[in-house]
Amino acid sequence: MNLEQRAKEWWTQNHEMMRDPALPHELDRYHAVEEKRIRKLFESHLGMRAIEAGCGHGRIIEVIRPYCCEVHGVDYSDSLVAYTKRRYKDCSEVSIRGGDIESLPYHDDEFDIGILAFNTFGNLYTKKEGAIKEMGRIIRPGGLLIMSVYSEEAKRMQHEAYASIGLKVTKDEKGIVYTEEGLISQRFSKMEVEAWMSIGGFIGHAEPLTPLSYFGVFRNGK
Ligand SMILES: C[S@@+](CC[C@H](N)C(=O)[O-])C[C@H]1O[C@@H](n2cnc3c(N)ncnc32)[C@H](O)[C@@H]1O
Repeated sequence: MNLEQRAKEWWTQNHEMMRDPALPHELDRYHAVEEKRIRKLFESHLGMRAIEAGCGHGRIIEVIRPYCCEVHGVDYSDSLVAYTKRRYKDCSEVSIRGGDIESLPYHDDEFDIGILAFNTFGNLYTKKEGAIKEMGRIIRPGGLLIMSVYSEEAKRMQHEAYASIGLKVTKDEKGIVYTEEGLISQRFSKMEVEAWMSIGGFIGHAEPLTPLSYFGVFRNGK
């Protein structure tokens, strides 16, 4: 099994822990501040068709669905998809699908806003380029991509957080943490974030969200 397959296996096997993780205080803060920023943005963009790639158990979907006409979530973890589908089975505006971010099951220009929350982009390892190009394809011209990732300052917290949930870090090289169990997680500088987004045709800036993370709202320039 290669590293990508092991990472997918990890996200599938650990879906229960993902729903209620005992997060270090700094990550609770990251969640809270990110949710506040995203809510504020959707309050001023009502009635959008939105997609969250790597939607996990639906944390962000819960934040944005009051403001959207349609909310789609996609994830490659079968167990997270099953859970999130059940969670929103009575919500006609929410649709959850299984799929890999490198090859998304949606049409060109289908969405007004796309989201890559809570360092999902940092979990993509060799799939970052394919993923950002896919987001560029499915978000309409002039549409928005909201994203957040770990900053260069997150290293200590990553090591502590992974140890606290029983993961063994095997390597931390070029800003990427590898664990024996399969989880891979990358940190980024502001310049790296902006360079990656531009590969997908997105224009904009990243700014600090918390001391450990960057947040950006990018416009699709295609
Ligand atoms: C850090 S979690 C974020 C979950 C959720 N977005 C949140 O903010 O709470 C990353 C998510 O991305 C998903 N993921 C990672 N690589 C993926 C890929 N190649 N395609 C689709 N989903 C992926 C994982 O299964 C996991 O649910």
